[in-house]
Amino acid sequence: MKTKSLKGIMLLTAMLVSFFSLAQNRLIVNADQGDIKINKHIYGHFAEHLGRSIYGGIWVGPDSDIPNEDGYRKDVMQALINLEIPNLRWPGGCFADEYHWTDGIGNPADRPKMVNTHWGGVTEDNSFGTHEFMNFAKKIGTEPYITGNVGSGSVEEMSKWIEYINFDGVSPMAELRKRNGQDEPWGIKYWGVGNESWGCGGNMTPEYYANEYRRYATYARNYGGNKLYKIAGGANNWDYNWTEVLMKNIPLWMMDGLSLHYYTIAGSWENKKSATDFDKETYLETLRKAAFIDDLIKRHGTIMDKYDPEKRIGMIIDEWGTWFEVEPGTNPGFLYQQNTMRDAHVAAISLNIFNKNADRVHMANLAQTVNVLQAVILTNETDMILTPTYHVFDLYKPHKDATLISHDLKSEEVSFGKEKMEALNISTSKSADGTVNISIANINPDKKIDLDVVLRGIDAKTVTAEYITAPAINSHNTFENKEVVKKAAFKDFKLNKENLKISVPANAVLMVRVK
Ligand code: AHR
Repeated sequence: MKTKSLKGIMLLTAMLVSFFSLAQNRLIVNADQGDIKINKHIYGHFAEHLGRSIYGGIWVGPDSDIPNEDGYRKDVMQALINLEIPNLRWPGGCFADEYHWTDGIGNPADRPKMVNTHWGGVTEDNSFGTHEFMNFAKKIGTEPYITGNVGSGSVEEMSKWIEYINFDGVSPMAELRKRNGQDEPWGIKYWGVGNESWGCGGNMTPEYYANEYRRYATYARNYGGNKLYKIAGGANNWDYNWTEVLMKNIPLWMMDGLSLHYYTIAGSWENKKSATDFDKETYLETLRKAAFIDDLIKRHGTIMDKYDPEKRIGMIIDEWGTWFEVEPGTNPGFLYQQNTMRDAHVAAISLNIFNKNADRVHMANLAQTVNVLQAVILTNETDMILTPTYHVFDLYKPHKDATLISHDLKSEEVSFGKEKMEALNISTSKSADGTVNISIANINPDKKIDLDVVLRGIDAKTVTAEYITAPAINSHNTFENKEVVKKAAFKDFKLNKENLKISVPANAVLMVRVK
């Protein structure tokens, strides 16, 4: 009898194994395997003094006719509150290395003006400065991340800025802050020491920057119980030498994070293509390039591992996203582009990859929040739209601070012209309450995919899901039609004990939650 039931179990297992290996698309989720936390800061954002990102996008000033609260656009503020963004990087970007913070404090009418040479050569009136940024961060419930000026600033200037923001005692900078209306120090944690120092941040060699970092970081003081998390300006794309030199020459105790920037383009930097008008081959080319961030993380990560095998130093991908041709008729220096389902897939793939590498990637910042590059929000004078990328960040909320769990995916491919990729792109995590989160992108624009999921290590009882989808790869929201792409409940799945069948719609991003 015993032998008979053992044989039965073996037969059933063999049948299951062969059934699932026959299935063209199958996912095994190991809900009981994983101990790495997905840092919520991977879902961070970035707002630079660039185009209509700050001015017109976030800040309209208290006297504006546009509905505002203390000068901040109400619609944008509410959308960012709803998105629960964990951190916001400011004031740049390239702008950070020509920004002098003392120009942005005190009575706005008395603040000196400057030329924003990087972005359109427009006059910057400094009406949005330290107080306006820190108060905005507080209003939307996010952690501020400031990048200090190394390129055209001084050690003293950066050091005093930190004292101004963080010191709780009697000092010239603390007194100045109080005179400007802020009694309590804000207690900022995340601090970047320069931006793209290999380029717009000073055209430095890695050896030179490493020395500069040591000097600037020495005087970036901790005040009271507040310990700064200092981020060194990292490499661009595949400049592995930059990472090697910095890891070798900066004592590890002097830094907490090392940044990496990577933008996804279609075509070349000299000939970037349209954000909305592209064919299927270009679509797949873009997604393949987005997925390349996985290779970059591995290769820069391997160098970091050599010096920091415990992975204490975070890889901080503080600029990522798509960079296309600006919308026709807009200022080329303002980097204003539309945002389609293609951007949604870039976001889904990138975030899935960051999750997968959560042992090393401790923070990431999408470029940029409002009206610039792969924005989550686009505004005009009076109105606002949420982009497909916004909805992906919204769908992915459960991954924040969840435990990364392992999975095994078998996916069919999709190909157009010379481009080919796996159609499904997935990330799996487990929330503190035991709920398993499965984010799925089906990048095939033409085919619904039946996915067989085996749920290991969880006694699955209920499934809920939400998704976005749209008829075309370039579907997007406009001010005339704001809900072409919007989040909706998803029901096309069937749970049978540990087996879950999901009919993943074409051109869709889903978040499936199993409890
Ligand atoms: O995000 C736009 C620009 O891209 C940033 O200012 C710069 O850091 C990067 O080159």
